[in-house]
Amino acid sequence: MSHVLTAEGSSIAMNGSHEARVWSALPTKEQRPPLTPKELERKIGSEVAKIGQGRAFKNKWIVKEGDGLVRLTESIDDSTQKDMREVDSTGTLKAGEKALAELRKRKLIVPKKGQWFTVHKGSNFSTSTAKPETDLTVDMLTSTPAREVQDTFYLSDPSTSLPPPADYYARVSKVHEHGGFGSSGYRAPWSDAESRKLLLRTHTTASSAAMLYKLAARCRGEDDLEADALAAHSGTTRKGKESDGGDGFRPAKLFSIDRVFRNETMDATHLAEFHQVEGVVADRDLTLADLIGFMRVFFKKMGLENIRFKPAYNPYTEPSLEIFAFHPQLRKWVEVGNSGMFRPEMLEPMGFPKDVHVHGWGIGLERPTMIRYGISNIRTLVGHKVPIENVEKSPAVRF
Ligand code: PHE
Repeated sequence: MSHVLTAEGSSIAMNGSHEARVWSALPTKEQRPPLTPKELERKIGSEVAKIGQGRAFKNKWIVKEGDGLVRLTESIDDSTQKDMREVDSTGTLKAGEKALAELRKRKLIVPKKGQWFTVHKGSNFSTSTAKPETDLTVDMLTSTPAREVQDTFYLSDPSTSLPPPADYYARVSKVHEHGGFGSSGYRAPWSDAESRKLLLRTHTTASSAAMLYKLAARCRGEDDLEADALAAHSGTTRKGKESDGGDGFRPAKLFSIDRVFRNETMDATHLAEFHQVEGVVADRDLTLADLIGFMRVFFKKMGLENIRFKPAYNPYTEPSLEIFAFHPQLRKWVEVGNSGMFRPEMLEPMGFPKDVHVHGWGIGLERPTMIRYGISNIRTLVGHKVPIENVEKSPAVRF
């Protein structure tokens, strides 16, 4: 068991034991006059003086001379200080457990809390790393073995979903296979079994899509109180219209913060489990400029003024923009978010009118936090290596 010094132990390592400080403060027999106990206390402090005297007498280092005290020996061997220095540099004592127990009893050292991990080679152990795919591309979707998207955790029990709404399901599968709403589709076969597989969501856009489908309920002619609740927070339309324009649409801003799962190769900035903060804004005639403006304000409010946008590909947004922020410690631009305008072939099968545009973004919660607080390893924030003290003392909310 490894040990560390208490505050008192550290002070002894630096300044000597109480008894040694008593001895050092006293005159030798030849030097006159002896120091009275009161004078000694004034010189080295009453606590050190009181505790130190007893041990110094016991060690036969000092002696009474009249009303005062003087040194008895010419030199001393401050073994306590030596012990403290040994524990400080090696974590233990050559003298063994009995000596350590004595120092623990004197509250000069405490056992060091440690974390141990047992590591075994797993079934997928390999000395080379394959870069997992994080974005779906048309090529990946058209080759059926490639359908086993590598960055996904599938569920085994239950492994398939309940039946989805039939009309919507028909519209989505049709647009996937054959296109529509201005899209040529994936022109790849639609697999019912594939679409029903349950998996841990890889991004919160899965939840956004479900919410947007709900928001569009009135546009589909359904009487849906949940849809009204979603739109209730949003105020007027961009064009200032209070009314829904006769097509049932009401604008909305929706946000979520939730956990997502990716079967990723882990490093300083990637974990298999992290959090996303996501938002969507649904309104008539929104443009990419609205999205960029929103993102600039959003990140500025979080203290990230230095951001850049890069064109990207998402199967569900076009155009898409990746958002990068400069990390001062890592001294490089790191991706902090992804965004875009949801595609008509995604929104129109939900039932939204053509002039309703939706922009959205998803940002990792951890990476911007790392930039903001100068943390260079994501494991400081999430997972089994987060020191329990951080969880207890952190003023931030944890999920
Ligand atoms: N789902 C994207 C991601 O995980 C983020 C995103 C959300 C992009 C909404 C566009 C629109 O990176």
